[in-house]
Amino acid sequence: MQAIVTGATSGIGRAIALALHGAGYEVIAFGRQKDALAELQALGLKTRAVDLSDRAALAAALDGLAADVLVNNAGMMPRMAPFCDLSDDEIDQAVAVNLGSVLAMTRAVAPGMRARGQGHIFFTGSTAGHAPFANLSVYCATKAAVGGFAQALRLDMAPHGVRVTEIVAGRVETSLYKDLLPEAARAAMYAGNSAVQPHDVASMLTAVLALPQYVDVARFDILPTHQATATGAQKKDK
Ligand SMILES: NC(=O)c1ccc[n+]([C@@H]2O[C@H](COP(=O)([O-])OP(=O)(O)OC[C@H]3O[C@@H](n4cnc5c(N)ncnc54)[C@H](OP(=O)(O)O)[C@@H]3O)[C@@H](O)[C@H]2O)c1
Repeated sequence: MQAIVTGATSGIGRAIALALHGAGYEVIAFGRQKDALAELQALGLKTRAVDLSDRAALAAALDGLAADVLVNNAGMMPRMAPFCDLSDDEIDQAVAVNLGSVLAMTRAVAPGMRARGQGHIFFTGSTAGHAPFANLSVYCATKAAVGGFAQALRLDMAPHGVRVTEIVAGRVETSLYKDLLPEAARAAMYAGNSAVQPHDVASMLTAVLALPQYVDVARFDILPTHQATATGAQKKDK
């Protein structure tokens, strides 16, 4: 059984890739960071170094693959700022990576699953796709689109035995904010065990995958116990 995981060099994707490898899948790990890919290779995973916003490179990287599982996980957060202050390039890059590459990847892989009559496609969405967050309008827009796409795709694929799951992630302790916030602010955000860990998301994914074929988990929300669902705000610790 073969699994493709995007964004496998870091955070949630890395944990998922390792968990699937541990579960016996032949994992094809996608990412850009060469050192991180080399580490995964040393652990027995196969890798593809590709910038997902480069469609030609993505098509070449997928050549010859026939995945049973696709985890559309890679994503980035554009600069946190009011929408009016973002540049066209910042907007385009976020849409290209968070949405465009997800559609392209799925378009390339899903027809094979449909023809074979089995498969499972996961999307790492976000609470930001289901609730507004200030200064994150474009990120929210891309994640809302991913959520809508996942739910509609599920209707297309279900008759062909292909399952589709949207992972609605709340705050997970990863490198997502590393270029956006100073180290002290990031540490404060994750202090006090208030963030989900990447391996928690991976555990959920492998549990969903292991369910019988007649069970399709359309979406699961995974967020810190202290994170309020609607706003993403942290409740005050006692
Ligand atoms: N952390 C959270 O709180 C949180 C909450 C909700 C949803 N999410 C979502 O979870 C997913 C994984 O993020 P993370 O939190 O694990 O952050 P992360 O540690 O920063 O990982 C992001 C991954 O995406 C890859 N990526 C980004 N841009 C890429 C590009 N242009 N081409 C190829 N790969 C690219 C990165 O690979 P390279 O570095 O090798 O390029 C990296 O492996 C994202 O879709 C994110 O939006 C995260």
